[in-house]
Amino acid sequence: MSSRPKRVLVTGAAKRIGRAIAIDLAHHGFEVAIHYGNSRAEAEETARECGGALVFQADLASVPEIRRLFADVRTRFGPLDCLVNNAARFTRFDPLEITEQDWDFIHDVNLKGTFFCCQEAARQMRQLGAGRIVNISSLGGIRPWADHAHYCASKAGLIMLTRALAKAWAPEIAVNSVAPGVIAFGDTDAEAQSMIRATPMQKAGTGADIAEAVRFFLSAPEFITGQILAVDGGLSQR
Ligand SMILES: NC(=O)c1ccc[n+]([C@@H]2O[C@H](COP(=O)([O-])OP(=O)(O)OC[C@H]3O[C@@H](n4cnc5c(N)ncnc54)[C@H](OP(=O)(O)O)[C@@H]3O)[C@@H](O)[C@H]2O)c1
Repeated sequence: MSSRPKRVLVTGAAKRIGRAIAIDLAHHGFEVAIHYGNSRAEAEETARECGGALVFQADLASVPEIRRLFADVRTRFGPLDCLVNNAARFTRFDPLEITEQDWDFIHDVNLKGTFFCCQEAARQMRQLGAGRIVNISSLGGIRPWADHAHYCASKAGLIMLTRALAKAWAPEIAVNSVAPGVIAFGDTDAEAQSMIRATPMQKAGTGADIAEAVRFFLSAPEFITGQILAVDGGLSQR
């Protein structure tokens, strides 16, 4: 890649982990674009903290919206060097009760939407001759959570998608995944608290922990591809 700042789009960057990733990358010399779904005011605040980043809205459950988003990004921001697929949905259902609608609600964004974001970004990266994609998966894609079978399946799918796309799009594009454990923002419920107690490092992670892992993959040698890095305080080792 050239020595100009790398252009990176972070999806779901208005709040929480996505916000931490966007701000960290901006502070480390990346040219950042902020995507949001509904949280416009928070996205604009993140953009300010990134030093005046461009802001893009799209519903990632819709493939036509994803295509419009990436066309818009290309026109207003420039072809992407890097993409961080952070946006996702999370729900809890007993697997005996879950409906087709509940299932699609999760998979439309977490797996299908993320795939089409990867596809659109890769088309731009291929034209540049290089690119990096980081997919934010989850410990739930590695370990089974009984009341989140639908979410776990979407994140396990994302992990395999990461590995398959790394193979498909080499040598130009490196594709890796960061799998967060419990990342707390002062709103931990009983389930999260019990997972924190079980975490060998005896604490929840922070947005900064995830951001640093993402920055590693965006800056690492391109020889590192198809890898899944759990940032979970050791919980996946239990
Ligand atoms: N927090 C954790 O402990 C944890 C653990 C494991 C994995 N993860 C993963 O880490 C990532 C970030 O986690 P988080 O807790 O920070 O996420 P979050 O707050 O639940 O969601 C991040 C953003 O995704 C966006 N989003 C969801 N559906 C969308 C849609 N249809 N179209 C556009 N944007 C959409 C939302 O944007 P708007 O608000 O703008 O609508 C939301 O702010 C996710 O991939 C999550 O699965 C998190």
